[in-house]
Amino acid sequence: MILLKSPAEIAKMEAASRIVAEILAEIQTRVKPGVETRELDELAEELCRRHRVEPAFKGYRGYPASICVSVNDEVVHGIPGRRKLKAGDLVSLDFGVRRDGYYGDAAVTLAVGEVTPQARLLLQATEESLYAAIDKARPGNRLSDLSHATQTVVESYGFSVIRQFVGHGIGRSLHEDPQIPNFGPPGRGPILKPGMTLAIEPMTAAGSWEVKILADGWTAVTQDGSLAAHFEHTVAVTEQGPLILSRI
Ligand code: MF3
Ligand code: CO
Repeated sequence: MILLKSPAEIAKMEAASRIVAEILAEIQTRVKPGVETRELDELAEELCRRHRVEPAFKGYRGYPASICVSVNDEVVHGIPGRRKLKAGDLVSLDFGVRRDGYYGDAAVTLAVGEVTPQARLLLQATEESLYAAIDKARPGNRLSDLSHATQTVVESYGFSVIRQFVGHGIGRSLHEDPQIPNFGPPGRGPILKPGMTLAIEPMTAAGSWEVKILADGWTAVTQDGSLAAHFEHTVAVTEQGPLILSRI
């Protein structure tokens, strides 16, 4: 069941999501060669305290940190730790908070120092696919129009979309209906209505889309070891079209 939000609820989600964007922006300034990924988690925790919000991921199904930091072939759910970032890495930061009963969720992938032309293209393709999907988040469209838009952009670059993880509805829960695959034919699934709030999150690989989960039970990596990227926004469907909530 897809829960529709009132304008007042969307305003609360916007407040939560804006804080997500602000915290992510601050964490991004710390992404440099030599930084341990756990330092980014410590910063995320500190910024949650400062903004008086709850980190959304900590303790979610036992996830042990406040932010997901996924490096290179890691697609999503990388656990921060002693790993040091180095020039040439691609690092995905995925972060969410709960504020006043509502969640916001967003992700971004960054280059650490100079990266290969292929890595730069993967970032470009993935971010472009997110905005192509967001542009379909309008009343009257079907949910799979978003999925199809994402897949079309990513595959036009010769990259692939991850199948095993999907975007999701979001609101009073971090994960609500509907699931939003990043692939598939257009014109299927529920008709979009004003008041739907969606976390749209293309995850992509430079090589093949198959993933495996590491022994930590969380970190998803590409099976072929190819680079991965991930961008995400929390978006509301409104009469006027898509409204990106996770924006400063
Ligand atoms: N953006 C991801 C999601 O919506 C992050 C979840 S991490 C978890 O699934 F730890 F909370 F699972
Ligand atoms: Co999400």
